[in-house]
Amino acid sequence: MAAALPLPTTRPLLLLAIFLLLATLSSAAVHVKRSSPHGIGVNYGRVADNLPSPTRSVELLRSVNAGSVKIYDANATVLRALSRTGMAVSIMVPNEIIPSIAASFAAADRWVGENLSPYYPATRVKYLLVGNELLSDYSIANSTWPRIVTAMENLHLSLRKRGISSVKISTTLAMDVIKSGAFPRPPSAAAFRDDIAGEVMRPLLEFLNGTNSYYFVDAYPYFVWAANNETVALDYALLAGGGGGRYVDPGTGLTYTNLFDEMLDAVVFAMAKLGYGGVKLGVAETGWPNGGDYEQIGCNVHNAAVYNRNLAARMARNPGTPARPGAKMPVFVFSLYNEDLKPGPGTERHWGLYYANGTAAYPVDLAGARPLESYPPLPAPENDTPYKGPVWCVLAAAAGGERINETAVGAAVAYACGQGNGTCDAIQPGGECFRPNTTAAHASYAFNSYWQHLRKTGATCYFNNLAEETTKDPSKPEKFYSILAQILIDTCVAVYYSALQ
Ligand SMILES: *[C@@H]1O[C@H](CO)[C@@H](O)[C@H](O)[C@H]1NC(C)=O
Ligand SMILES: *[C@@H]1O[C@H](CO)[C@@H](O)[C@H](O)[C@H]1NC(C)=O
Ligand SMILES: *[C@@H]1O[C@H](CO)[C@@H](O)[C@H](O)[C@H]1NC(C)=O
Ligand SMILES: *[C@@H]1O[C@H](CO)[C@@H](O)[C@H](O)[C@H]1NC(C)=O
Ligand SMILES: *[C@@H]1O[C@H](CO)[C@@H](O)[C@H](O)[C@H]1NC(C)=O
Ligand SMILES: *[C@@H]1O[C@H](CO)[C@@H](O)[C@H](O)[C@H]1NC(C)=O
Ligand SMILES: *[C@@H]1O[C@H](CO)[C@@H](O)[C@H](O)[C@H]1NC(C)=O
Ligand SMILES: *[C@@H]1O[C@H](CO)[C@@H](O)[C@H](O)[C@H]1NC(C)=O
Repeated sequence: MAAALPLPTTRPLLLLAIFLLLATLSSAAVHVKRSSPHGIGVNYGRVADNLPSPTRSVELLRSVNAGSVKIYDANATVLRALSRTGMAVSIMVPNEIIPSIAASFAAADRWVGENLSPYYPATRVKYLLVGNELLSDYSIANSTWPRIVTAMENLHLSLRKRGISSVKISTTLAMDVIKSGAFPRPPSAAAFRDDIAGEVMRPLLEFLNGTNSYYFVDAYPYFVWAANNETVALDYALLAGGGGGRYVDPGTGLTYTNLFDEMLDAVVFAMAKLGYGGVKLGVAETGWPNGGDYEQIGCNVHNAAVYNRNLAARMARNPGTPARPGAKMPVFVFSLYNEDLKPGPGTERHWGLYYANGTAAYPVDLAGARPLESYPPLPAPENDTPYKGPVWCVLAAAAGGERINETAVGAAVAYACGQGNGTCDAIQPGGECFRPNTTAAHASYAFNSYWQHLRKTGATCYFNNLAEETTKDPSKPEKFYSILAQILIDTCVAVYYSALQ
């Protein structure tokens, strides 16, 4: 989930006055139309091929009382759909173009001229985020990290030149910018990684401080809890209040009642160590997955609803954090939809307040005004403890049968078979799983073999949605083609099982 400094330029006061007037008029008009309260914000991610239109998405944002929305680009259709909604909007400069925006003021100014100013102020752009989690991507350490702040300065100058003063420039940073990672206990001992502290973080904080902007963190108690499920109470991660226990930071004596606050204060203390303890904090992403893979834990509708409802109710009170009591923080929940094209483990595709078909995963009032007891009952959480049985990775039902795409499945099988040693020996001609000689049977074997052998090193059962996990032994299909085929399939049982070891 990343960075920069301000140079004032003079601008005719008249132009500024007109801008201010327009901004005032547009927000006044909006206030009249607006009946819902201002809730926390929502990330409107669109890494999917099946989402409702931007116009419909705005309706869905309103119906959960979202007060603001964050997008990962500056898509014109989306920005138009958000115009005159009153919602504060956060837009993003894609990671790839940051070096070019740093290299020339003209390029930065052109970007603003094409992606921001045509929609502003009818669309209430409030944050311009320069890149997404840049400091987590080591492949751009040389090409981009040293240029983040310069890009921000160029963009800042462009906004000034255009008389736009209400847009804050920042970047988003994942918890891995902290030396000890996402669970830096005690928070007061947290510091930025040595490879970035001096060269990247210091100038970045200088820019944020000088422009009165925010440090935007992506903070996911879910992942910290999942990795420490035996030692951290689930309620402590779910913002469930007193029942979840507490932690006292021995360095400061501050008492923590939830994991989220610990993560945020780690950032606060890391900033303070570089001399920028006064930079404001915002949360660019947080949330809880409503589903995931069998071997993942605690990802379910129940916990997702509890986390996001608790978050909204909490933020409505502006509690700040133990280190910064009462501090106001912009917060964006991740995400509006379950996004089917996000790679990685199953949780990646299950952060939505809504499913892709527009049905709410669970009701939530992001304004935090609805009493928690007034929500209808939730489905019981079924995976709060680790799943113990065997799991296989097979060709997804939706990708098989009549709809099988031979090209796509063939490419995925070729990839799977190219990884590891002897991953697909059994489905070569003469191998014990060659028959049935069908793309579907070979794909299930190849996906499973790949995943069983390489999951310890991070391999996932995904293959662009062509694969899915199952707890039903795939070597025993319900409908089999012939007695002979079944006998041949049975010989694969041993292979499937041995792959589990
Ligand atoms: C912007 O979003 C619309 C609606 O989803 C899409 O049709 C269009 O291709 C997007 N534009 C760009 C440049 O990605
Ligand atoms: C960045 O530069 C250093 C020093 O020149 C080099 O060792 C490193 O491999 C480079 N990293 C990348 C990702 O190019
Ligand atoms: C941060 O900004 C404030 C207000 O402009 C200023 O007083 C302070 O010196 C700045 N801090 C640093 C470390 O530059
Ligand atoms: C549960 O936590 C333990 C350590 O506390 C960890 O080894 C294990 O991987 C976690 N389980 C899951 C499913 O993440
Ligand atoms: C929408 O998708 C969800 C999740 O796949 C499903 O449970 C629900 O029934 C769907 N709703 C409609 C109206 O199709
Ligand atoms: C099949 O998959 C290929 C490669 O992913 C894709 O280009 C093509 O559009 C797909 N065909 C159909 C009919 O979906
Ligand atoms: C394949 O096996 C060889 C020899 O045991 C080993 O050196 C190599 O790392 C293995 N490759 C993979 C991708 O597992
Ligand atoms: C296996 O199936 C492929 C594709 O249908 C076919 O070209 C090939 O001849 C078959 N091989 C055998 C030995 O049946």
